[in-house]
Amino acid sequence: MTEPTEQGRLTSRSIRSFVIRNGRLTKAQAAAIETLLPKFGIRFDSNQPLDLANLFGNNNPVWLEIGFGNGDALIDMAVRYPDVNFIGVEVHEPGVGHALIGIEANELSNVRVVQHDAIEVLEIMLSQQSLARVLLFFPDPWRKKRHFKRRIVQPEFLTLVASRLSDNGVLHCATDWADYAQWMLEHLEACPQLSNTAKEGKFVARPESRTKTRFEQRGERLGHDVFDLVYTRL
Ligand SMILES: C[S@@+](CC[C@H](N)C(=O)[O-])C[C@H]1O[C@@H](n2cnc3c(N)ncnc32)[C@H](O)[C@@H]1O
Repeated sequence: MTEPTEQGRLTSRSIRSFVIRNGRLTKAQAAAIETLLPKFGIRFDSNQPLDLANLFGNNNPVWLEIGFGNGDALIDMAVRYPDVNFIGVEVHEPGVGHALIGIEANELSNVRVVQHDAIEVLEIMLSQQSLARVLLFFPDPWRKKRHFKRRIVQPEFLTLVASRLSDNGVLHCATDWADYAQWMLEHLEACPQLSNTAKEGKFVARPESRTKTRFEQRGERLGHDVFDLVYTRL
């Protein structure tokens, strides 16, 4: 397995947690990609970390949402927490288009999106201790055993995330797939830089900060339980 360097950089790509789906863009999404991405997007081409204070024009804490899907939860949180800056990362283009429409409709100045692999965004664009919170809601569960290596929650991913969190920064994960919840718990418990906030060393009730996501609603319709895990950086 690839080991992170001291700076928390993975020395080569080792986790491929997504497949690019050929979802068709609606006209509105295509227009948003064309006109709003230059305004609210951050282009992945940088070899040096972002200057977040300069990007947002203030020193507010920054929360990063990994794999925001259609972005509804990201937009809702940005509306509810105007004193927090949000960066959403998603590879699925229709989702990015949908989120951009939401940013414009709500006149939000505290959200930016990156259409790229979140692992590379963490590695290359975000400096150490730059994030107050990392949100990972309903990541693809990769149910088959031979695909477990594609699960984004892996030891090197957690080391990378922890290195980007500020002191007492928070990693919040949620899933409706019981097997993945157990996997997350085991890997998070084994990460020396992170500490569980749950009293019994397991899961927490859904924090008020987490908006119900589209995938959560789908899981509920299927009768799935939902598991939240909240860890702080030591
Ligand atoms: C199961 S969906 C959940 C979406 C959303 N969080 C929700 O709860 O509705 C997982 C999403 O993560 C995205 N994703 C997976 N790996 C990613 C990565 N490394 N970087 C960015 N996005 C990723 C996928 O494209 C997909 O949209």
